[in-house]
Amino acid sequence: MKKISVGLLGLGTVGTGVVTILTNHQDKLMHQVGCPIELRKVLVQDINKDRLVEVDQSLLTLEVDDVVCNPEIDIVIEVMGGVEETRKHILAALKNKKHVVTANKDLMALYGPELLMEATNNGCDLFYEASVAGGIPILRSLVDGLASDRITKMMGIVNGTTNFILTKMSKDKRTYEDVLSEAQRLGYAESDPTSDVEGIDAARKMAILATLGFSMNIALDDVRIKGISTISEEDLDYSKRFGYTMKLIGMAARDGDRVEVSVEPTLISDHHPLASVNDEYNAVYVLGEAVGETMFYGPGAGSLPTATAVVSDLVAVMKNMRLGVNGRSAVSPQFEKKLKVASE
Ligand code: NDP
Ligand code: HSE
Repeated sequence: MKKISVGLLGLGTVGTGVVTILTNHQDKLMHQVGCPIELRKVLVQDINKDRLVEVDQSLLTLEVDDVVCNPEIDIVIEVMGGVEETRKHILAALKNKKHVVTANKDLMALYGPELLMEATNNGCDLFYEASVAGGIPILRSLVDGLASDRITKMMGIVNGTTNFILTKMSKDKRTYEDVLSEAQRLGYAESDPTSDVEGIDAARKMAILATLGFSMNIALDDVRIKGISTISEEDLDYSKRFGYTMKLIGMAARDGDRVEVSVEPTLISDHHPLASVNDEYNAVYVLGEAVGETMFYGPGAGSLPTATAVVSDLVAVMKNMRLGVNGRSAVSPQFEKKLKVASE
């Protein structure tokens, strides 16, 4: 039975989760894809670092070409983060006819159309479910589950770190700095947490959601952004007293040929379902013309939840390989069209 060989770029919070799932769920994965999955090479920065998961030392490499140019590797999983250097690695992998799975929203929000086009031109899949809302299969739900509907609005909590901070500051009366340190320790925050607390991470995710949900190119520049770094404990106390909860809310709305996308701290009535989404959990509300209201909820960050989405993408790629088709790598012609954004 032919094995499928996988190369991993990165063995941090998410990479560790990927290796754990590949190891612990072997039976389930074998049942899904019908052949063993072999981890062939893992790119890291520091070969001698203590790892939270057992990986044969001989698999670790400092040379990216050992992964992206390795003729024995079929699928590359990118969980190293970063943008410019990582874009080059993914382009190289695709040019070498390797399917790619990534969790990188920074990259997909900036270079998604280019990378998806490169994937299509090389007959490869490029899947990125983990880039938005961690363990919640929201991209698949938009692209497949709601394929027949016209989506008019999406609203949600799409950053785990800021939701964790706001929840702990409000409920446990802890300081912003103290909770941010815990979010970093737990692996929820980005390597530079500025993008979390200033709303940029959520904005990247809203750009990806709006692009897929509305079938048009929405760039990061199209998103109005305000983060939570200036929210004080007093602000949270005050809102609670009047029956509201402060959340960092991403919103994407389409009205005819106009689109509005934003991320900002918002007071939500305590009776609203989003008010009870706490800690690192995320939720995305989607309104479709035909389906009406739907809501997706689950862990938005962290090692195993995020790795679940990554490995599920890996399974999807392998199923496509077996069928000889490519999945969601095609750039729909509609993506060429860009409707007016509200700020224009
Ligand atoms: P970490 O910082 O924990 O891990 C990054 C890994 O990549 C490390 O193993 C590091 O090596 C390696 N790496 C980084 N830069 C380089 C480089 N230039 N060359 C070689 N290796 C490199 O990141 P996360 O696992 O938290 O995140 C990975 C990606 O997943 C990011 O794009 C992030 O935005 C995304 N993501 C993260 C989530 C989370 O909850 N953490 C959730 C959803 C998406 P070494 O170990 O040797 O330092
Ligand atoms: N830093 C991100 C967050 C990781 O806190 O949501 C998940 O994308």
